[in-house]
Amino acid sequence: MARIIRQEEALREAAALLGAGGVVAIPTETVYGLAADAFNGEAVAKIFETKGRPRFNPLIAHVSNIGMATELAVFNDRARALAEKFWPGPLTMVLPMTATSPVHPLVTAGLDTLAIRVPQNTFTRALIAELDHPLAAPSANRSGRISATTAAAVDAELGDRIELIVDGGSAQVGVESTIVKVDDDRVTLLRPGGVAREAIEDVVKTRLEAVTGATVQAPGMLLSHYAPQLPVRLGAREVNSGEALLAFGPRRAQGSGQAAATVNLSEAGDLREAAANLFSAMRELDRAQATAIAVEPIPEEGLGEAINDRLRRAAAPRDMTGQGE
Ligand code: TXA
Ligand code: MG
Repeated sequence: MARIIRQEEALREAAALLGAGGVVAIPTETVYGLAADAFNGEAVAKIFETKGRPRFNPLIAHVSNIGMATELAVFNDRARALAEKFWPGPLTMVLPMTATSPVHPLVTAGLDTLAIRVPQNTFTRALIAELDHPLAAPSANRSGRISATTAAAVDAELGDRIELIVDGGSAQVGVESTIVKVDDDRVTLLRPGGVAREAIEDVVKTRLEAVTGATVQAPGMLLSHYAPQLPVRLGAREVNSGEALLAFGPRRAQGSGQAAATVNLSEAGDLREAAANLFSAMRELDRAQATAIAVEPIPEEGLGEAINDRLRRAAAPRDMTGQGE
């Protein structure tokens, strides 16, 4: 069972747990978050495992101030103006990642953009500053359930699955942050939330665009944007000539010796390690001189469900990915 500790007393313990690759439920002004070190892929994988998320949605990186944000994402003039006006606060911006950003690919689900915000809660900012890494944190509820705005609600959702819940009282805003994607030519509203559209429009001096089928940037709908170039063949028990191999576990598919390239998601067959390696492995194999990527079977249990969801999208006909959200 999780221990619930008041935020005034939680800093050292929460920082130690996060520094050791654990997950901790933290207060923010919008809703409680389930946090992990955004630079640590296996820690981020635990978030998905704990929530029971059947797929890898990209997560928000929470930082302690604008300076930390600019190490991770590229700010144009509008993004800078929005940050200065609304941070700390319930506004998340989706921005291009910097070339040197150490954020783990599982946080962005392999995208080259990063969702980022500075939360208002002073404990949470102090925690991020103490760790000196951003915190990846989705809402602290089980997948498919409503967000939690009190420590007790987090406890009811996840108390049997996590060690520590930091109690910061009830979330003042009570709805999730507003998410905008800030491009050079337009600003798109991806999710309404704690900051009103009008207040954002006043700062950027333009209307916020709605998400349309053409932009397909809506949360959860963006998986087709980084489908590999190579065809993907799932459940492979043998490697055909010319294929690259995405392996899993200690035993290899037949003919693996002649694979054009091989990356093993986890020699030990550990699904958490496999989740952390998935996006970089796909990128690496996509660069191989190969006709296709053969993927060994991955068990449909725990994080395997999200891994297989991602792989099925990668294997789907290209005009069908991104549908069905
Ligand atoms: O108020 C909030 O935003 C809370 C607190 C904990 O900060 N967090 C939250 O996280 O609501 P979550 O994971 O439940 O929702 C984040 C949303 C998802 O719908 C995700 O698809 C979207 O942000 N998102 C994250 N990165 C993105 C990206 N690079 N492009 C587009 N959407 C992104
Ligand atoms: Mg959520």
